[in-house]
Amino acid sequence: AKIREYKWRVEYMHWCPDGVDGVVMAINGNFPSPTIRALVGDTIYVHFTNNLPTEGVVIHWHGISQSGTPWADGTASISQCPINPGETFLYKFQVDKAGTYFYHGHYGMQRSAGLYGSLIVEDEKEPFHYDGEFNLLLSDWWHKSSNEQQIDLSSKPFRWIGEPQSLLMNGRGQFNCSLAAQFSKLGVPQCKLRGDEQYAPQILHVHPNKTYRLRVASSTALSSLNLAIGGHKMVVVEADGNYIQPFSVKNMDIYSGESYSILFNTDQDPSNNYWISINVRGREPKTPQGLTILNYIPHFASKIPNSPPPLPPLWNDYKYSKAFSNKIFGLNGWSPKSPTRQNRRILLLNTQNRIEGYIRWAINNVSLVFPTTPYLGSIKYGINNAFDTKSPPNTFSKNYNIMKPPINPNSTYGNGIYMLKFNTTVDVILQNANVLAENESEIHPWHLHGHNFWVLGYGDGKFVSKNVEKFNLKNPPLRNTVVVFPYGWTAVRFVANNPGVWAFHCHIEPHLHLGMGVVFAEGVHLVKNVPNEALTCGLRGKMLVKNKHK
Ligand code: C2O
Ligand code: CU
Repeated sequence: AKIREYKWRVEYMHWCPDGVDGVVMAINGNFPSPTIRALVGDTIYVHFTNNLPTEGVVIHWHGISQSGTPWADGTASISQCPINPGETFLYKFQVDKAGTYFYHGHYGMQRSAGLYGSLIVEDEKEPFHYDGEFNLLLSDWWHKSSNEQQIDLSSKPFRWIGEPQSLLMNGRGQFNCSLAAQFSKLGVPQCKLRGDEQYAPQILHVHPNKTYRLRVASSTALSSLNLAIGGHKMVVVEADGNYIQPFSVKNMDIYSGESYSILFNTDQDPSNNYWISINVRGREPKTPQGLTILNYIPHFASKIPNSPPPLPPLWNDYKYSKAFSNKIFGLNGWSPKSPTRQNRRILLLNTQNRIEGYIRWAINNVSLVFPTTPYLGSIKYGINNAFDTKSPPNTFSKNYNIMKPPINPNSTYGNGIYMLKFNTTVDVILQNANVLAENESEIHPWHLHGHNFWVLGYGDGKFVSKNVEKFNLKNPPLRNTVVVFPYGWTAVRFVANNPGVWAFHCHIEPHLHLGMGVVFAEGVHLVKNVPNEALTCGLRGKMLVKNKHK
């Protein structure tokens, strides 16, 4: 195993992600941020310098277990202090599991500002073969700055950020023109691109009659997506860094925080090119589809495919989405088996609420706000008054009607966390509900830091204890992100065996910002070698200063 060392500097830069000039957070002059490629078992060193003029920053390595290095998880207020402008922080962690991952800012709404990049961990042996591979990091883009979005969301009266202006693949999209104008009724002009523009699509060049692996990850702030390759079947083989039972589809859903690998054969007419498209799902689409081209060598990449881009399923065809999610199973012999029973079950009700006229999201009626002292430090060093030590509720009222807006829409702010007994098996049931408005319930992709969980099942309506009988204990897929469908529930199981403090939250950026998350802590007394630089803020920061002067 190798050490892979990087020197990174983050700064704001002018950029043109979709043909409209804007500003992004870039690392070493790149948007998206640079791709890390490593081999399983390698250790990554990132010397991360904050060149933002006036704000702190952290980087979360999404999907990496951070076993033994919970202080490197990159979650502000949980695992570390924000890195101050001008300062350098060393992230040091092992990539112990092969797969398709990404990383992103995890302070305020920095992911929305474009702070994300791919992280690919290669395996020495894999349960499938291919001749070449590509990588697409998907995101959504607003013309309004993330700063302004953040202010909008936290204002009274509430201002919603609206739908994104464009969808990006590897940071590239088109707003004022379309690659497929001739097939569209929207009246947007055909893009005239030289190919070197920042918003020119990244074209995938393939040879006929080969098999390719396409790695995709979604770092969207809001959008759930559906991906298709015109004329080509896709075989899904990996989900969130876990091999799954291969299955074949025409198109696939991908929620924010998820990653997949698919295999496709270049078995179509080699004199033609084909569309690769992404479309919004689960929200009434007001964003044009994202497009790029699959180009069969040796023909010109500029040749427009002769058929229109693939038609996505209807945005609100949830049956279709559920059918996709229900096709994902763990691959026998390649993924660890789930324990047969749990030690603790936590039910988490997802609701939209109001607190003193502000719109918030709440879990069991508590809307998460982050403390100034990172939990990792306050728990490890036994600091009092850093956060509310009373645990948030383990469940919600049996009488709660999930089909209706909350009867009492008020909730409370809280920063209490769930203390999990070390090495126990925990089931979490995520329960969706109606939002503040009638007849509406949204999609929430939940992401767990520091662990994979087994997805035991999904269901419609309110979870009842007899649903347990239908849990899939035979071949549940391991994942780090899972969707909760409108008016439905999702059950996951994990083993609390990774000493540290871990966020579990909706991966929709504005939802997390408005309180949609919880925090788990386990075995914190076992955490060793936390660098002081990780915790030099809040009450732990004061302690460190005092010790220095003694
Ligand atoms: Cu990719 Cu806490 O998130
Ligand atoms: Cu959400």
